[in-house]
Amino acid sequence: MFLPIIMAGGTGSRLWPLSRQLNPKQFLKLCGDSTLLQQTLSRLDGLEIAAPAIICNEAHRFMVAEQLRQLSVIDASILLEPVGRNTAPAIALAALNATLNGEDPVLLVLAADHFIADDKAFQEAVQAAEVLASKNKLVTFGIVPTHAETGYGYIQRGASLLRQGFDVARFVEKPDSGTAQSYLDSGDYYWNSGMFMFKASVYLEALREFRPDILNACTRAFEGGSQDMNFVRVDDATFAECPEESIDYAVMEKTSDAAVIPLDAGWNDIGSWSALWEIGKKDSEGNVCKGDSLAINTRNSLIHAEHKLVATVGVEDLIVVETKDAVLVAHKDSVQDVKKIVEAIKNDG
Ligand code: GDD
Ligand code: MG
Repeated sequence: MFLPIIMAGGTGSRLWPLSRQLNPKQFLKLCGDSTLLQQTLSRLDGLEIAAPAIICNEAHRFMVAEQLRQLSVIDASILLEPVGRNTAPAIALAALNATLNGEDPVLLVLAADHFIADDKAFQEAVQAAEVLASKNKLVTFGIVPTHAETGYGYIQRGASLLRQGFDVARFVEKPDSGTAQSYLDSGDYYWNSGMFMFKASVYLEALREFRPDILNACTRAFEGGSQDMNFVRVDDATFAECPEESIDYAVMEKTSDAAVIPLDAGWNDIGSWSALWEIGKKDSEGNVCKGDSLAINTRNSLIHAEHKLVATVGVEDLIVVETKDAVLVAHKDSVQDVKKIVEAIKNDG
């Protein structure tokens, strides 16, 4: 039995113009009939879980509540952040909430915006991780890397543990490209999937050791907060003063108690439009088309049309996204820079 914590506070700016500040990617139906948040919860069906907790920005509370209601999940806690302070504080709030009644559950920390093709393999990895988490390990899920990605954490495999797990010899968050390439070449590193499993107390203890400033700010913000139905609020001003840091830098790079469970389940963190092309269903020319589109002599492209007929001729490796108020045309190799559009629009406004 474990308690799922779903982190849903990201902005998803690289998936503009579909993903917007008021409606970021985790709340959209980007692949399949339900939203990424809903798929994250449904992926746990059949496992023995406690009522989940979703941690998100205050602005998204009704959207989250409605999406949970659609799944008939009525007992979830929805923890509200007045501002994003990244994942180390977010998980701290969730761990404080989970230990409120003197309990110390194992937490399964998930990102609300991942795609996983093979639910069964995922569930098996979670069950293996739970065994290690209940033995006080901070468990990560490792993906066999395919390229020298610099946007991920890297986990060096150490000694073998029970049930297909390994000790983590070293955790390096977002290395530069030369370092990432050397890790890839060595063959003994995984990518960090960004999902974690540990006892609430083990995480809080790690924060106390490595980042007492974050733990103190979160504890004060949580104690100054309130609960109203499923919504759990913190003290706004205190939380705003909390240092901003991810769990990867705050805890995973520093601890010597981490373990990794390899995960081979078709994981994709849907970081960009090219990731959506990768996981999408392709026609014989390698195009992923949604909506009213016409792709002539077009290859390996993604075309997303919502209101108009979108036609392409004689192009390849393009991303074309048409929505009510914006059109994106990008080369597949430049999709990481889509976030620059969002920044430029913000600075303009
Ligand atoms: N509630 C809340 N509050 N959620 C947050 C916040 C926050 O302040 N910041 C981020 N999140 C959520 C995002 O919505 C996402 O689901 C998840 O936490 C991870 O945040 P990202 O911002 O996407 O992290 P990243 O991609 O830079 O790196 C992490 O994920 C990689 C894999 O996708 C790290 O864990 C890397 O090590 C990992 O490889
Ligand atoms: Mg990410």
